[in-house]
Amino acid sequence: MTELRSGSLRTRLVTVAAAAIAAGLLISGCGGGAAPQGAEQAAAADPASGANASGSVNICGVKDASGIYKGTAEAFTKANGKVTAKYTEIGATTDEARTQIVQRLEGKSTECDIFLTDVIWTSEFASQGWLLDQTKLVEANKDRLIPSTVETTKYQDKYWASPFFTNAGLVYYQKDKVAKPETWQQLYAEAAKAPGNGYVYQGKQYEGLTVNFLEMLYSAGGEVLDDKGDVAIDSPETREVLDFMSNGLKNGSADRAVLTYNEDPARLAYESGDFGYQRNWPHVYRLLNATSLAGSFGVAPLPAWEGGKASGVLGGWNLAISAHATNQSGAVAFIDFATTPEWQKHVAMDYSQAPVNEAAYSDAAVLQKMPFATELLASVKGAKPRPISPVYPQISQAIYKNVYAVLSGTASAEDAVKKMAEEITTAKASF
Ligand code: GLC
Repeated sequence: MTELRSGSLRTRLVTVAAAAIAAGLLISGCGGGAAPQGAEQAAAADPASGANASGSVNICGVKDASGIYKGTAEAFTKANGKVTAKYTEIGATTDEARTQIVQRLEGKSTECDIFLTDVIWTSEFASQGWLLDQTKLVEANKDRLIPSTVETTKYQDKYWASPFFTNAGLVYYQKDKVAKPETWQQLYAEAAKAPGNGYVYQGKQYEGLTVNFLEMLYSAGGEVLDDKGDVAIDSPETREVLDFMSNGLKNGSADRAVLTYNEDPARLAYESGDFGYQRNWPHVYRLLNATSLAGSFGVAPLPAWEGGKASGVLGGWNLAISAHATNQSGAVAFIDFATTPEWQKHVAMDYSQAPVNEAAYSDAAVLQKMPFATELLASVKGAKPRPISPVYPQISQAIYKNVYAVLSGTASAEDAVKKMAEEITTAKASF
C-alpha cells in the first residue's frame, strides 16, 4: 500500500520535474526569465479549518534523535481522533533535509503537508512561494511565544510557519574531571590538560560548523553582516577565532574526529565517557541521562570569550505548511495541537527540547524534568540569529567551507577570511 503510494508519487514527481525543466528551457530559450511565484501570491492558511479536519497529514523533517517529531505525531493522532499524522524522516542533517525538501517543492510534490523548517530557511522558502501564509495562526499565539522565535518565521511582514521548538547551544561537562567553563579559553585549557578531558563539537562541513564557529565569533565581538547588512566578516575577531579553533585541534583540546561529527556522532562519542566537554543542544540532556554518565555530568550555558561576553546562536524548528499540501486543514489541526501550552510542556518534559511557549520554562513539572530550564530560557533569549537572507544557505556554505579548510589544515586563517568575505559578497549579490 505504502509502496504503491510512494511509487505513484515518485512517477508524478518525475513527470512534474521533467515538465518544469522543459518549461524552464523554453523560457530561457525565449530569452525571458521565469518569475518565481513569490511570497506576494501565496495563499493563506485558514485558522478555523483545523476544527473540521479529517484524513491524514504527512509531516516531513530531518532525522531526530530526541523522538519529538514521531512522538508529537502519535500524541496528536490519539488526541484528535479524526486526523492521523505521520512523520516521514528526510535527511540526516539540516543541510540534507533542506536538499530533500527543495527537491520536493521544486517538483510541486504533494507528498508532504507539513515541512519541519530550520529557522534559517524562512526567507528562502517564503520568497519562492513554497509555503502557505500562516500570519493569522501566528498572530493568535504570538503573545505567549518567545519573541525571537516568532521573528524566525517572518518574511516581508508576514509569518510563514509556526514556531515549534527553539534551540540554544549548551556545554555538557563531566563534573569529576573538568570545571564548569566560564570562558572558551578556560574550556580549551582544561580540555588539553589530560586525554580524558577533551572537547567534542560539530566540526564536519555543514550548517552545524557554521553554528559552532558563530557562537565563538559572536562572543568575541565579531559578526557576519553589520547593522546595514554589509559583509563584516573580514575582521581581527574572525582571524582570532579561526586560529583559536585550529590551535585547539593541534594541541589536543579537541579531538580531530570532530571534523567528521554532526550532532549525533558528537553525542555518541561523548557517551563513551572519554571526553570532558561536549557542545550540543538541549535534547542531549535526556539522552545522556539514560547512559552510565547520568548524575556525573553538568549542563552549562555557552561560555564567554575571554574579555568579551557569552553569546549563542539561535536554532530551532518551525512547522510550515507546503503550498502543495493536500490536507491543509489537517495541517492546521496538527499545528494547533503542537503549539498548545500543554503540548509545549511535553516538548521539554518528554523530549528535553526548548519550548517556544515562555510560560513552560517556569512550570514546576518542567523544572523537575529539565532542571536547567531557567538557564536555557536565558540562553535562548540571549542567542543571536544567523544572517537573515533568501540566500542564507550560500552564505553559510561560504562560512563552513572556509572554517573547515582552516581546521583541517588546508588553508591559513588569513586566506580563509578573505575567501569567506568574497564568497558571502557574491552570494548576497545573487538575490
Ligand atoms: C539544530 C538547530 C538548527 C541548526 C542545526 C545545525 O538542529 O535547531 O537551527 O541549524 O542544529 O546543525
